[in-house]
Amino acid sequence: MQTVHTLDVLRTSVTKLRSSGARIGLVPTMGALHEGHLTLVRKALENCDAVVASIFVNPTQFGPNEDLDAYPRQLAEDAAMLEAEGCALLWAPEAREMYPDGFVTNVSVSEVSEGLCGASRPGHFDGVATVVNKLFNQVLPDMAFFGEKDFQQLAVIRAMARDLDLTLPHAHSIIGVPTVREADGLAMSSRNRYLSAADRAAAATLPKAMKQAIAEIEACSDAVPALASLEKALLEAGFESVDYAVLADATSLRAIDRLTGSSARLLVAARIGGTRLIDNMAVSA
Ligand code: PAF
Repeated sequence: MQTVHTLDVLRTSVTKLRSSGARIGLVPTMGALHEGHLTLVRKALENCDAVVASIFVNPTQFGPNEDLDAYPRQLAEDAAMLEAEGCALLWAPEAREMYPDGFVTNVSVSEVSEGLCGASRPGHFDGVATVVNKLFNQVLPDMAFFGEKDFQQLAVIRAMARDLDLTLPHAHSIIGVPTVREADGLAMSSRNRYLSAADRAAAATLPKAMKQAIAEIEACSDAVPALASLEKALLEAGFESVDYAVLADATSLRAIDRLTGSSARLLVAARIGGTRLIDNMAVSA
């Protein structure tokens, strides 16, 4: 596996891969890799001939009081994991390579980015859309792979790709990969490592309470009491606050009170020990 830090070298390497006829899969990440990321790489290898992974802790998607400085950085360890999985190329630019002096462009996706995490993290999805758009233009992948764990992010990226015609000429195809979970059900996240042992144990209440809420919603269609019980269960388990616990249409991500017959998703963001955890699960109509 080749690790590249500059755009010139990336373009030369990608051109070489492409001229050998390889179908290229892109796995964008911010590093601190875990089994969830490695699953994306494996999925990309199943569908493509060569995988380009990126590691870039993107400053523009972090708010002023968020964890940009604390976000774990472990490039050598991550590179070894990607190489062991069979990645062809690791794109690991510095911030000034991605955002050189004079950078003034912002990609902003309305509607789907406005509620849920967008409401409590202003500017977050502009940062995500802008950097992912750049990654697509830099790597020109045939397919790109993202975790469903960040369900709203996936919806924002799909909307951006559709609206900016990113499906052609590069034949992008954006693939959502199901969330990978720990043995107790907690969704894998690079931020789980911030949790103390006690908070980590209590955090397992999140997927359990979500499953319980889904069972209640599927039984009676009405989300309101189930969401109230879910919030109560999280606060009783030691979560400090619940940013949102919402039943939403799975495509528009608009909140709904009842199942409507089209596909729905339960999405939750809650804080424990100062760490904000998110999770989402499908709800059968
Ligand atoms: O999901 C992530 O790790 C990031 O938001 C992404 C898609 C790599 C953009 O920085």
